[in-house]
Amino acid sequence: MKDQLDSLLSEFESALTPLTEQADVLSAKANFLGKKGKVSEIMKSIGGMSPEEKKTIGPLVNATKDKMLSILQDKLNFIEIEKINQKLEKEKIDITLLDDIKSEGGTHGGYHPRTIVQKEIEDVFLSMGFEVLDGPHVEDEFHNFEALNIPADHPARDMQDTFWFHHPSSDVEKKQLLRTHTSTIQIRGMLERKPPFRFIAPGTVFRCERTDASHEMVFNQLEGMMVGKDVSVAHLIYFMKTLLKEIFKKDVKVRLRPGFFPFVEPGFELDINCLICNGKGCSVCKKTGWVELLPCGMVHPNVLRAGNIDPDEWSGFAFGLGLDRLVMMRYGIDDIRYFNNGDLRFYEQFHSF
Ligand code: DAH
Repeated sequence: MKDQLDSLLSEFESALTPLTEQADVLSAKANFLGKKGKVSEIMKSIGGMSPEEKKTIGPLVNATKDKMLSILQDKLNFIEIEKINQKLEKEKIDITLLDDIKSEGGTHGGYHPRTIVQKEIEDVFLSMGFEVLDGPHVEDEFHNFEALNIPADHPARDMQDTFWFHHPSSDVEKKQLLRTHTSTIQIRGMLERKPPFRFIAPGTVFRCERTDASHEMVFNQLEGMMVGKDVSVAHLIYFMKTLLKEIFKKDVKVRLRPGFFPFVEPGFELDINCLICNGKGCSVCKKTGWVELLPCGMVHPNVLRAGNIDPDEWSGFAFGLGLDRLVMMRYGIDDIRYFNNGDLRFYEQFHSF
């Protein structure tokens, strides 16, 4: 009887081996383990055996049945995994095959020209020991104005047309606004660290103003700040020159003139010779031949104090690069409104892969 069971088991195994479909496996199961299957035939014969015989043969038959069931389950699992693998193989997409995607009429993404330039600037400043910071778009009056030496009645608040949030709740003491400049991050940066330090902070800013070729309501700046012992105008000029040389890879004509910002003293405007018209005058430079690119200056003592820094011990410079304008100069883009208008024909010109 044992031999009979063993050969039944190997017969079962060989019956399953060539099968690749679960349905076929299940019908093989019926042939062997079903009501009218071969195992049931053997079970029937047990009926006529003596109790002693039953005691030895019964467990043998059950063990064979268990083995068959486990072989069967393995086979079913194997088929299922094979099916999944085949499907994965068929549906595999190699995302590195850009040329294939393109030849099939598809398109691929790429960096916005502003992102390309921003990353380059970040690399330049990271290599000079600066950190790269971020800050919130929704700000309060303290960070956007007060701490930057612009008190409530100061006319400089009118220089920047602010988008205010109207809070229905009277619990909110500080009025909220969309930051009008990245200078807010100067305050956050100072309050979070102890001097000496140096950081830059790129980000989007918002102003409620009319748009034209060089103005947008939503645009981007890149703030910079360095505080240390004896930081001077010489440091400021060195870092600004390095920045422009690295970005334009050539000497560009610049001019430095006095500029007024409540948070710096002295303050400067660093203008660049308009690269759209080569200084002849166009809509981007408002026919002046110059583009205001890099307002900057030595950090006002009141601002250092607002950042918990003693102005008798420390000094610093700050700048607020017009990032979008720099990108326009770099690529010869003659209208800032291209940046956010969603026209892929514009963006695709900058995809480098
Ligand atoms: N926050 C100023 C603006 O948006 C720009 C600016 C000027 C930033 C001078 C500075 C600075 O850090 O020193 O108009």
